[in-house]
Amino acid sequence: MSLELKLSGKTAIVTGGSAGIGLATAKALYSEGVNVAIASRNQERLDRAVADIQSLPTPGAKVIAISADLTKAEDVEKVVSTTLAQFNQIDILINNAGSARAGSFLESTDDLFLDAWNLKLLGYIRLVRAVVPHQKSRGDGRIVNIVGGAGRTPRPNFLAGGTSNAALLNFTKGISKELAEYKIRINAISPGATATERAETLARQNAQAQGITVEQVKAQNIQNIPLKRIAQPEEIAALALFLVSDLAASITGTEIIVDGGSTPGV
Ligand SMILES: NC(=O)c1ccc[n+]([C@@H]2O[C@H](COP(=O)([O-])OP(=O)(O)OC[C@H]3O[C@@H](n4cnc5c(N)ncnc54)[C@H](OP(=O)(O)O)[C@@H]3O)[C@@H](O)[C@H]2O)c1
Repeated sequence: MSLELKLSGKTAIVTGGSAGIGLATAKALYSEGVNVAIASRNQERLDRAVADIQSLPTPGAKVIAISADLTKAEDVEKVVSTTLAQFNQIDILINNAGSARAGSFLESTDDLFLDAWNLKLLGYIRLVRAVVPHQKSRGDGRIVNIVGGAGRTPRPNFLAGGTSNAALLNFTKGISKELAEYKIRINAISPGATATERAETLARQNAQAQGITVEQVKAQNIQNIPLKRIAQPEEIAALALFLVSDLAASITGTEIIVDGGSTPGV
């Protein structure tokens, strides 16, 4: 049996698609013949990402960049309306843009929590709300929320991100039954440490919070992973592609953890 994803001709929105896990997922989708709209803030990074994606040999597929700050409700609407104007359909939503800060709790202001919740929790929820009416009318939709291990396994220096992730797991599972009525599937992927720019930033913030060096933080991270390896963004992308394909036609309302065995649980 060969695993054919059969995604060619579909259209996807990938938030935070200009870097890290989002860029790897946009490239993987495009390589399968999917039209992709990537959305993030920095235009230069978006332009570089589009050139990077277009360098892949994929006959027929298109990629567009939409400059958007996903903490703003109006920018969420812009991402959806621009994608529909360009491609007429949105089969796939990859909710991925997130940038919660790490830091000690006593130095965490209300704004630090509100920024994390506004971008990731409300940003993901708003995109689902904006995309679902369109997917409902077509009787098909595939949504993946990139969440994170701190949702189930809290870490003291990452409470803003962790609380946002915990709420997103609740949301993903909570909405899945309602969306199933319209043949829309929604799942979460929770990466552990994954080699992106964000992982570098978090290592610096954790080092500062713990009063140790970045190298010590990285060594601790690896030490705590049973498989002793940091995931590559392409591994998260591969799982996202499987989840949005018909190979996962019976999978909805679930969370898949990619953390090298760090948080086994029942
Ligand atoms: N890497 C890890 O170890 C890890 C672990 C667990 C969970 N995750 C989750 O995986 C997701 C992706 O992380 P990553 O490591 O790939 O991050 P990354 O390399 O920092 O990339 C983040 C992407 O999000 C965009 N973004 C940030 N703030 C935005 C905003 N306000 N509006 C629109 N776009 C915004 C960035 O572009 P601009 O800055 O130009 O807007 C960039 O494209 C996040 O939700 C993160 O929490 C990552």
